[in-house]
Amino acid sequence: MSTWDLSETKHHVLICNGGSCLRNQGDEVTLAIRAEIALHGAEDYFHTTRTKCNGRCEDACVVMVYPEGIWYKEMTPETVRTLVREHLLQGNPLYEHMSYYFHNNRFSPTGNGTRGVLRSAAVKKEAKKGSL
Ligand code: FES
Repeated sequence: MSTWDLSETKHHVLICNGGSCLRNQGDEVTLAIRAEIALHGAEDYFHTTRTKCNGRCEDACVVMVYPEGIWYKEMTPETVRTLVREHLLQGNPLYEHMSYYFHNNRFSPTGNGTRGVLRSAAVKKEAKKGSL
């Protein structure tokens, strides 16, 4: 176990390792991001965390970058190596893989792919079925 000094950290990269994302190369994506960061000697600047499901399974494999609040979809080992070089190191997000981004105090869809359903609608539907 380690306790990292985060004082040099510029970005927190969350890599979904829920079931759908693992079936879509989630483990390989995680290892590729970490390897590319290490290749550039940038471990102090970019902190990575594996997560459980983030509720965007149709977008698997999902990767999120903060503080920008950019959610990426359909990431592969190849695209995350580009993400490290372009977004993390150069500040140029990969627009073609963005599904949402944080803007004006809320997440905005980019129009790339499925919008999804609001959680409140899903909860009402489950309540109607009596499964809550
Ligand atoms: S498993 Fe990754 S979003 Fe659901």
